[in-house]
Amino acid sequence: MIKQAIIPLAGLGTRLLPLTSVFAKELLPINGKPGIEYILDECIDAGIKEIVFIISTKKQMIKKYFYSDKFYQNIIEKKKDKRIIDEYKKILKYKKKIKFVYQNIPKGTGDAVLKTQKFIKNKYFLMLLPDDLIIKKNCSKAMIRAHKKYKASVMASMKVNKKTVSRWGIYKLNKKLNKTDYLIDGVVEKPSVKNAPSNNAVIGRYILPRKIFKKLKSLKPSKGNEIHITDAIQELINDKEKFVAHNFEGKYLDCGTMKGYINSSKIIGKL
Ligand code: G1P
Repeated sequence: MIKQAIIPLAGLGTRLLPLTSVFAKELLPINGKPGIEYILDECIDAGIKEIVFIISTKKQMIKKYFYSDKFYQNIIEKKKDKRIIDEYKKILKYKKKIKFVYQNIPKGTGDAVLKTQKFIKNKYFLMLLPDDLIIKKNCSKAMIRAHKKYKASVMASMKVNKKTVSRWGIYKLNKKLNKTDYLIDGVVEKPSVKNAPSNNAVIGRYILPRKIFKKLKSLKPSKGNEIHITDAIQELINDKEKFVAHNFEGKYLDCGTMKGYINSSKIIGKL
Protein backbone atom coordinates (compact mmCIF):
# COMPACT_ATOMS: atom_id res chain seq x y z
CA MET A 1 0.00 0.00 0.00
CA ILE A 2 1.34 3.42 -0.94
CA LYS A 3 0.08 5.89 1.64
CA GLN A 4 3.02 8.26 2.03
CA ALA A 5 4.61 10.69 -0.41
CA ILE A 6 7.67 12.90 -0.22
CA ILE A 7 8.30 16.13 -2.12
CA PRO A 8 11.79 17.69 -2.32
CA LEU A 9 11.36 21.47 -2.07
CA ALA A 10 14.74 22.72 -0.91
CA GLY A 11 16.04 23.66 -4.40
CA LEU A 12 17.03 27.27 -5.01
CA GLY A 13 15.09 27.68 -8.26
CA THR A 14 17.85 29.59 -10.04
CA ARG A 15 16.38 28.66 -13.44
CA LEU A 16 13.38 30.82 -12.57
CA LEU A 17 15.30 33.93 -11.50
CA PRO A 18 14.36 36.75 -10.93
CA LEU A 19 10.98 35.34 -9.78
CA THR A 20 12.70 33.15 -7.20
CA SER A 21 15.08 35.73 -5.69
CA VAL A 22 12.67 36.29 -2.77
CA PHE A 23 9.94 33.76 -3.54
CA ALA A 24 9.67 29.96 -3.41
CA LYS A 25 9.18 28.67 -6.96
CA GLU A 26 6.68 26.05 -5.81
CA LEU A 27 4.33 28.81 -4.61
CA LEU A 28 4.42 30.68 -7.92
CA PRO A 29 0.95 30.64 -9.43
CA ILE A 30 0.21 28.60 -12.50
CA ASN A 31 -3.06 29.97 -13.83
CA GLY A 32 -3.86 31.42 -10.39
CA LYS A 33 -2.98 28.34 -8.30
CA PRO A 34 0.40 27.66 -6.68
CA GLY A 35 2.30 24.91 -8.49
CA ILE A 36 2.63 22.85 -5.29
CA GLU A 37 -1.17 22.59 -5.00
CA TYR A 38 -1.37 20.75 -8.34
CA ILE A 39 1.17 18.27 -6.99
CA LEU A 40 -0.72 17.91 -3.68
CA ASP A 41 -4.03 17.39 -5.47
CA GLU A 42 -2.48 14.68 -7.63
CA CYS A 43 -1.18 12.68 -4.69
CA ILE A 44 -4.22 13.15 -2.44
CA ASP A 45 -6.45 12.03 -5.31
CA ALA A 46 -4.20 8.97 -5.68
CA GLY A 47 -4.93 7.97 -2.06
CA ILE A 48 -1.87 9.43 -0.29
CA LYS A 49 -2.55 10.16 3.39
CA GLU A 50 0.71 11.76 4.52
CA ILE A 51 3.12 13.99 2.62
CA VAL A 52 6.63 14.87 3.77
CA PHE A 53 7.95 18.21 2.49
CA ILE A 54 11.72 18.58 2.37
CA ILE A 55 12.33 22.32 2.72
CA SER A 56 15.22 24.51 3.88
CA THR A 57 15.43 27.50 6.23
CA LYS A 58 15.52 29.66 3.08
CA LYS A 59 12.16 28.21 2.04
CA GLN A 60 10.25 28.69 5.30
CA MET A 61 7.72 30.59 3.20
CA ILE A 62 6.30 27.22 2.12
CA LYS A 63 5.59 26.23 5.72
CA LYS A 64 4.07 29.65 6.44
CA TYR A 65 1.74 29.25 3.45
CA PHE A 66 0.16 26.19 5.07
CA TYR A 67 0.24 27.58 8.64
CA SER A 68 -1.43 30.95 8.10
CA ASP A 69 -4.42 30.10 10.39
CA LYS A 70 -4.52 33.40 12.32
CA PHE A 71 -4.32 35.45 9.14
CA TYR A 72 -7.29 33.62 7.59
CA GLN A 73 -9.32 33.59 10.81
CA ASN A 74 -9.02 37.38 11.21
CA ILE A 75 -10.09 38.03 7.64
CA ILE A 76 -12.93 35.50 7.74
CA GLU A 77 -14.28 37.09 10.94
CA LYS A 78 -14.42 40.51 9.30
CA LYS A 79 -15.61 39.42 5.85
CA LYS A 80 -17.72 36.34 5.50
CA ASP A 81 -16.46 35.78 1.96
CA LYS A 82 -17.28 32.28 0.66
CA ARG A 83 -14.28 32.14 -1.65
CA ILE A 84 -11.86 32.95 1.17
CA ILE A 85 -13.55 30.45 3.50
CA ASP A 86 -13.23 27.72 0.84
CA GLU A 87 -9.57 28.55 0.22
CA TYR A 88 -8.90 28.37 3.97
CA LYS A 89 -10.63 25.00 4.25
CA LYS A 90 -8.48 23.72 1.41
CA ILE A 91 -5.28 24.94 3.11
CA LEU A 92 -6.36 23.23 6.36
CA LYS A 93 -7.01 19.98 4.47
CA TYR A 94 -3.47 20.08 3.06
CA LYS A 95 -1.92 21.14 6.39
CA LYS A 96 -3.30 18.08 8.20
CA LYS A 97 -1.43 15.81 5.81
CA ILE A 98 1.93 17.61 5.63
CA LYS A 99 5.07 17.04 7.70
CA PHE A 100 8.31 19.00 7.29
CA VAL A 101 11.98 18.05 7.29
CA TYR A 102 14.96 20.24 6.44
CA GLN A 103 17.75 19.98 3.88
CA ASN A 104 19.72 23.17 4.42
CA ILE A 105 22.64 22.34 2.15
CA PRO A 106 21.55 21.47 -1.41
CA LYS A 107 23.38 18.16 -1.84
CA GLY A 108 21.03 16.61 -4.40
CA THR A 109 17.77 14.68 -4.62
CA GLY A 110 19.29 11.55 -3.07
CA ASP A 111 20.30 13.52 0.01
CA ALA A 112 16.80 15.08 0.19
CA VAL A 113 15.22 11.61 0.18
CA LEU A 114 17.51 10.46 2.98
CA LYS A 115 16.18 13.25 5.22
CA THR A 116 12.71 11.65 5.21
CA GLN A 117 13.81 8.24 6.48
CA LYS A 118 12.38 8.63 10.00
CA PHE A 119 8.89 9.26 8.61
CA ILE A 120 8.60 6.41 6.12
CA LYS A 121 6.66 3.50 7.62
CA ASN A 122 5.70 1.25 4.70
CA LYS A 123 7.79 -0.85 2.35
CA TYR A 124 7.23 1.58 -0.55
CA PHE A 125 6.60 5.32 -0.84
CA LEU A 126 5.92 7.84 -3.58
CA MET A 127 8.15 10.77 -4.52
CA LEU A 128 7.00 13.67 -6.70
CA LEU A 129 9.35 16.32 -8.10
CA PRO A 130 7.49 19.64 -8.02
CA ASP A 131 8.97 20.99 -11.28
CA ASP A 132 7.19 18.25 -13.20
CA LEU A 133 3.47 18.83 -13.60
CA ILE A 134 1.47 16.09 -15.25
CA ILE A 135 -2.06 17.10 -16.16
CA LYS A 136 -5.17 15.50 -17.65
CA LYS A 137 -4.49 12.03 -16.15
CA ASN A 138 -3.35 11.25 -12.63
CA CYS A 139 0.14 9.81 -13.13
CA SER A 140 0.63 8.84 -9.45
CA LYS A 141 -2.61 6.85 -9.51
CA ALA A 142 -1.57 4.93 -12.63
CA MET A 143 1.85 4.24 -11.12
CA ILE A 144 0.32 2.89 -7.91
CA ARG A 145 -1.76 0.55 -10.08
CA ALA A 146 1.40 -0.61 -11.90
CA HIS A 147 3.18 -1.08 -8.57
CA LYS A 148 0.40 -3.40 -7.36
CA LYS A 149 0.35 -5.31 -10.62
CA TYR A 150 4.10 -5.94 -10.89
CA LYS A 151 5.00 -5.84 -7.19
CA ALA A 152 7.86 -3.57 -8.17
CA SER A 153 9.25 -0.06 -7.85
CA VAL A 154 7.89 2.21 -10.59
CA MET A 155 9.15 5.41 -12.22
CA ALA A 156 7.43 7.71 -14.68
CA SER A 157 8.85 7.67 -18.18
CA MET A 158 8.55 9.68 -21.39
CA LYS A 159 10.27 9.52 -24.78
CA VAL A 160 12.33 12.66 -25.34
CA ASN A 161 14.17 14.14 -28.29
CA LYS A 162 17.52 12.29 -28.65
CA LYS A 163 19.40 15.59 -28.64
CA THR A 164 18.08 16.46 -25.14
CA VAL A 165 19.05 13.28 -23.25
CA SER A 166 21.70 15.10 -21.19
CA ARG A 167 18.91 17.00 -19.40
CA TRP A 168 17.39 13.82 -17.88
CA GLY A 169 17.87 10.53 -16.13
CA ILE A 170 17.79 8.00 -19.01
CA TYR A 171 16.57 4.39 -18.86
CA LYS A 172 18.26 1.29 -20.08
CA LEU A 173 15.27 -0.83 -21.09
CA ASN A 174 15.09 -4.58 -20.58
CA LYS A 175 11.72 -5.78 -21.93
CA LYS A 176 8.25 -4.52 -22.68
CA LEU A 177 5.70 -5.71 -20.12
CA ASN A 178 2.66 -4.21 -21.82
CA LYS A 179 1.59 -1.13 -23.81
CA THR A 180 2.84 1.35 -21.22
CA ASP A 181 5.31 -0.48 -18.99
CA TYR A 182 8.91 -1.62 -19.37
CA LEU A 183 11.16 -3.57 -17.07
CA ILE A 184 14.42 -1.65 -16.81
CA ASP A 185 18.02 -2.75 -16.48
CA GLY A 186 19.32 0.59 -15.38
CA VAL A 187 19.16 4.35 -15.29
CA VAL A 188 21.93 6.87 -16.00
CA GLU A 189 21.82 10.44 -14.75
CA LYS A 190 22.13 12.98 -17.58
CA PRO A 191 24.28 11.00 -20.06
CA SER A 192 25.86 12.53 -23.16
CA VAL A 193 24.05 11.95 -26.48
CA LYS A 194 26.80 9.49 -27.39
CA ASN A 195 26.52 7.41 -24.21
CA ALA A 196 22.75 7.47 -23.67
CA PRO A 197 21.30 3.93 -23.50
CA SER A 198 17.93 5.13 -24.95
CA ASN A 199 15.83 8.26 -25.27
CA ASN A 200 13.34 7.21 -22.57
CA ALA A 201 13.62 9.77 -19.79
CA VAL A 202 12.81 9.72 -16.09
CA ILE A 203 10.04 12.18 -15.23
CA GLY A 204 9.61 13.24 -11.61
CA ARG A 205 7.35 10.53 -10.16
CA TYR A 206 8.91 7.57 -8.34
CA ILE A 207 7.57 4.68 -6.26
CA LEU A 208 10.64 3.69 -4.26
CA PRO A 209 11.34 0.92 -1.76
CA ARG A 210 12.34 1.79 1.79
CA LYS A 211 15.51 -0.22 1.10
CA ILE A 212 16.80 2.78 -0.84
CA PHE A 213 17.73 4.61 2.40
CA LYS A 214 20.46 2.09 3.11
CA LYS A 215 21.94 2.67 -0.36
CA LEU A 216 21.71 6.44 -0.02
CA LYS A 217 23.65 6.41 3.25
CA SER A 218 26.75 5.01 1.63
CA LEU A 219 26.42 6.75 -1.73
CA LYS A 220 29.17 9.10 -2.90
CA PRO A 221 28.28 12.33 -4.76
CA SER A 222 28.53 12.01 -8.56
CA LYS A 223 27.48 14.42 -11.39
CA GLY A 224 27.65 18.06 -10.23
CA ASN A 225 28.96 16.85 -6.85
CA GLU A 226 25.40 15.88 -5.83
CA ILE A 227 23.95 12.70 -4.38
CA HIS A 228 21.60 11.44 -7.08
CA ILE A 229 18.58 9.26 -6.48
CA THR A 230 19.31 7.66 -9.87
CA ASP A 231 22.62 6.26 -8.57
CA ALA A 232 20.87 4.64 -5.58
CA ILE A 233 18.24 3.17 -7.94
CA GLN A 234 20.99 1.71 -10.13
CA GLU A 235 22.56 0.06 -7.08
CA LEU A 236 19.21 -1.49 -6.14
CA ILE A 237 18.80 -2.79 -9.71
CA ASN A 238 22.29 -4.31 -9.47
CA ASP A 239 21.00 -6.14 -6.37
CA LYS A 240 18.09 -7.53 -8.51
CA GLU A 241 15.41 -5.14 -7.25
CA LYS A 242 12.62 -4.94 -9.84
CA PHE A 243 12.06 -1.46 -11.40
CA VAL A 244 9.39 -0.66 -13.96
CA ALA A 245 9.30 2.43 -16.21
CA HIS A 246 5.72 3.57 -16.75
CA ASN A 247 4.92 5.65 -19.84
CA PHE A 248 2.21 7.88 -18.44
CA GLU A 249 -0.80 9.05 -20.42
CA GLY A 250 -1.14 12.61 -19.07
CA LYS A 251 0.45 15.73 -20.48
CA TYR A 252 3.84 16.71 -19.08
CA LEU A 253 4.58 20.36 -18.27
CA ASP A 254 8.12 21.33 -17.28
CA CYS A 255 7.67 24.15 -14.75
CA GLY A 256 11.32 24.32 -13.71
CA THR A 257 12.45 26.59 -16.56
CA MET A 258 11.17 30.09 -17.35
CA LYS A 259 9.92 29.10 -20.80
CA GLY A 260 8.21 25.97 -19.44
CA TYR A 261 6.71 27.84 -16.50
CA ILE A 262 5.14 30.52 -18.72
CA ASN A 263 3.89 27.86 -21.12
CA SER A 264 2.25 25.82 -18.31
CA SER A 265 0.03 28.74 -17.33
CA LYS A 266 -1.03 29.18 -20.95
CA ILE A 267 -1.85 25.48 -21.40
CA ILE A 268 -3.71 25.11 -18.09
CA GLY A 269 -5.55 28.39 -18.76
CA LYS A 270 -6.99 26.91 -21.94
CA LEU A 271 -8.30 23.69 -20.31
C1 G1P B 1 15.83 15.25 -11.87
C2 G1P B 1 16.39 13.84 -11.93
C3 G1P B 1 16.42 13.34 -13.37
C4 G1P B 1 15.01 13.42 -13.96
C5 G1P B 1 14.46 14.84 -13.82
C6 G1P B 1 13.00 14.89 -14.22
O1 G1P B 1 16.70 16.13 -12.53
O2 G1P B 1 17.70 13.85 -11.37
O3 G1P B 1 16.88 12.01 -13.40
O4 G1P B 1 15.04 13.04 -15.32
O5 G1P B 1 14.54 15.30 -12.46
O6 G1P B 1 12.52 16.20 -14.19
P1 G1P B 1 16.66 17.74 -12.32
O7 G1P B 1 15.41 18.24 -12.99
O8 G1P B 1 16.61 17.97 -10.85
O9 G1P B 1 17.90 18.26 -12.96
